[in-house]
Amino acid sequence: MSLRGLLKPLLICVWFSGCVSNLILAQTPPVNPVEKISLYQQRAEQAVPDQEALAHSEKMLREHKNIKILDKFAVPNFHKQSGELETAPNTFCRNCHSPLPHRSQLRTRGFNNMHVRFIACETCHFRPKDVEFDYQWLDYDKQQSVNGQGLFRIGQEIDNAKQRPANPKIAPFKDGLPVIAFKDQSFSKEIADQWDKADTSAKVLLRAKLHLPLEKKGPECQGCHDEQKSLLNLQALGATAEQSQAMAKHIIPQFIRRYKKDDEHITIREMLR
Ligand code: HEC
Ligand code: HEC
Ligand code: HEC
Repeated sequence: MSLRGLLKPLLICVWFSGCVSNLILAQTPPVNPVEKISLYQQRAEQAVPDQEALAHSEKMLREHKNIKILDKFAVPNFHKQSGELETAPNTFCRNCHSPLPHRSQLRTRGFNNMHVRFIACETCHFRPKDVEFDYQWLDYDKQQSVNGQGLFRIGQEIDNAKQRPANPKIAPFKDGLPVIAFKDQSFSKEIADQWDKADTSAKVLLRAKLHLPLEKKGPECQGCHDEQKSLLNLQALGATAEQSQAMAKHIIPQFIRRYKKDDEHITIREMLR
């Protein structure tokens, strides 16, 4: 066989295998070799819980009951519900918390659980005093910000046939990068692994470290539903002028502001005053 005859299939073979490997590369998502360390991860790793924080963590774990969210209700639901309970599941907090994590405060829990569908846990619970974040819509799968045009529903005729997408959510960013941990990162996986293997005292310490950088409560409703001093730059997030107005003037947050104490009851007569 001539040299050319030998080379030809060889070249085809090289060309072809190149194509195949290109195809494989194109199909696997790009992997970032140096995983960026989020500000939350830094703070959690550096956290040194004191005696008080450990005692609180111990109490929390003692009182904690695992609630199970039923997929199918035994009794048919009175209200017509559409959409899934689960929202963007690639969140670090969802390693341990249910999709409806708020239950203790009867008055606000339903609203907070509703907000979980479009606001990251960290927007409300990770608010360190020494840094300023800007808030953007975060795509949890791509782990980057997306344009919020058209994502707000407030101030419009609500059409239940059109559901809000479960992904993205409004999340804290610094220098263009999300400051939160994701479920698929090695940090997150290690925590999940440690948690599974931990005995009670190890769990107390781990829980305390993870929650030391966090706030036990989120902001007041007015923290976002306020014209002057909203945590969020609604315009930059893609809200129209009317929607920003509707956010600030929404009757429900205004009503909730009237309560001064947890066990207070407001009668209709008082409401009309
Ligand atoms: C490794 C498990 C684990 C992870 C991860 C985790 N939590 Fe928790 N968290 C717990 C447990 C357990 C409790 C106590 C029982 C409960 O309230 O569910 C708790 C309690 C809390 C509380 C109430 C705190 C208090 O002291 O009153 C908040 C708020 C909270 N978590 C927010 C978050 C947020 C936000 C994230 C993500 C940044 C997160 N958690 C990640 C396990 C975890
Ligand atoms: C819109 C703001 C907001 C968002 C988003 C939010 N929280 Fe909260 N969270 C609060 C507030 C406010 C409280 C204090 C209790 C209350 O008012 O219901 C709270 C309390 C809690 C508690 C204490 C237990 C309880 O029954 O109240 C836990 C646990 C918690 N949040 C976890 C989470 C997790 C996990 C996420 C994300 C999946 C999340 N939160 C997202 C505002 C928020
Ligand atoms: C971290 C910011 C933040 C906090 C805190 C917050 N909200 Fe909101 N809320 C929003 C955003 C953003 C929207 C708009 C979502 C949209 O347009 O789709 C919204 C929408 C709503 C809506 C839906 C309005 C509609 O007509 O669809 C209600 C009701 C509401 N919030 C009530 C509350 C109450 C009550 C509280 C306090 C318990 C609260 N919010 C706290 C950011 C917040």
